[in-house]
Amino acid sequence: MDLYEFQARDVFETHGVPVLRARTATGPFAAGAIAEELDVGVVVVKAQVKTGGRGRAGGVKLARSPQETVDRAREILGMDIKGHTVRRVMVAEGAEIDQEYYFSLLVDRGERSYLALCSREGGVEIEQLAEERPEALYRQKIDPLVGLDEAAAREIVQAAGFDEADHDQLVNVLVLLGKVFHDEDATLVEVNPLVRTGSGRIIALDGKVTLDDNADFRHPEHAAYHETGDGGPLEARAREKDLNYVKLDGSVGIIGNGAGLVMSTLDVVAYAGADLPGSPRPANFLDIGGGASAQVMADGLDIILSDEQVKSVFVNVFGGITACSEVARGIVQALEMLGDRETKPIVVRLDGNAVEQGRLILADANHPLVTVVDTMDDAARAAAELAAAR
Ligand SMILES: Nc1ncnc2c1ncn2[C@@H]1O[C@H](COP(=O)(O)OP(=O)(O)OP(=O)(O)O)[C@@H](O)[C@H]1O
Ligand SMILES: [Mg+2]
Repeated sequence: MDLYEFQARDVFETHGVPVLRARTATGPFAAGAIAEELDVGVVVVKAQVKTGGRGRAGGVKLARSPQETVDRAREILGMDIKGHTVRRVMVAEGAEIDQEYYFSLLVDRGERSYLALCSREGGVEIEQLAEERPEALYRQKIDPLVGLDEAAAREIVQAAGFDEADHDQLVNVLVLLGKVFHDEDATLVEVNPLVRTGSGRIIALDGKVTLDDNADFRHPEHAAYHETGDGGPLEARAREKDLNYVKLDGSVGIIGNGAGLVMSTLDVVAYAGADLPGSPRPANFLDIGGGASAQVMADGLDIILSDEQVKSVFVNVFGGITACSEVARGIVQALEMLGDRETKPIVVRLDGNAVEQGRLILADANHPLVTVVDTMDDAARAAAELAAAR
């Protein structure tokens, strides 16, 4: 799971990484109040969305008074940055920047190791720097069993060519970032920019942290990070039901069993919709897993149908351990449970174990909104057409 910048900032602060004072707001006046409280000459209003390039998109702006902060926050809130609506801004102290550096620590799966990346030329898109001037981006393998200790940090700081006078301070910050990485079970800790201020202080001005969800059991405190997900209320509800659901922004609801099948279903639906009016796209990812009971199917359908953007639903199931007959019974029972809530057309494609019985069960139930289509391509097409027509 990726953290928002303000959450990364909080984590940094907890571990002693130098950061700027900041708080978040969901409305312009609250943002102005934070500026008042920070009581500094310049503050920065920053869009809190889980995507990069916020600055370039106009989501990072300076303000020189509480009133200006209100105005800037009003501009930034509600903005769309690469498909993410800005619902929250962070108001931080303005820093007097002398230099912008780059630092990250990540899991390098290919090398079965950790990798530290560091550059004196931060603030810019790091992918661009890596491509155009790879020599300016220093890379160092970090032994996962040792971690980013002082010796490794010193090697990085020297090799990356920082000024001698800043070495001790930089080593200290890097070691602390290594602790964040280790103690929080992160797979990525990135600071871009890590700045040197006019007075010579090294500060993490921006932070990106990805936590390893597989280590959640060790971190009950991480549960709180799930609450503010970009997916909003639907993803929160899905999590309560233990459903593997991700909200997307199309109009064809998707339910499938198995992550691989659901992923390819998203592709097939997007492809089928491309030439249709309004180009209907998938509205979500939802994997109901292997042993999909009627209850799970009902929970999944319930969430998808609560999505106002959804116009049709595609249930794509390949019977493996769970027979299609079970799944079909699940769908019928789910529709009974939902009763009047079910108001959108559902296209069902069943294949695999006990497919004939499954189709018979659905045919017997003869639900007015359910259409059974034999192949995945045809079913995707049907679901996309239904969404385009509504
Ligand atoms: N507190 C601050 N004080 C002064 N300038 C700042 C402050 N925060 C950010 N900036 C300036 O804005 C630039 C962009 O900020 P930041 O790195 O947080 O966003 P970004 O890089 O556009 O977003 P992302 O990291 O999501 O791509 C920084 O490189 C820095 O020059
Ligand atoms: Mg940045």
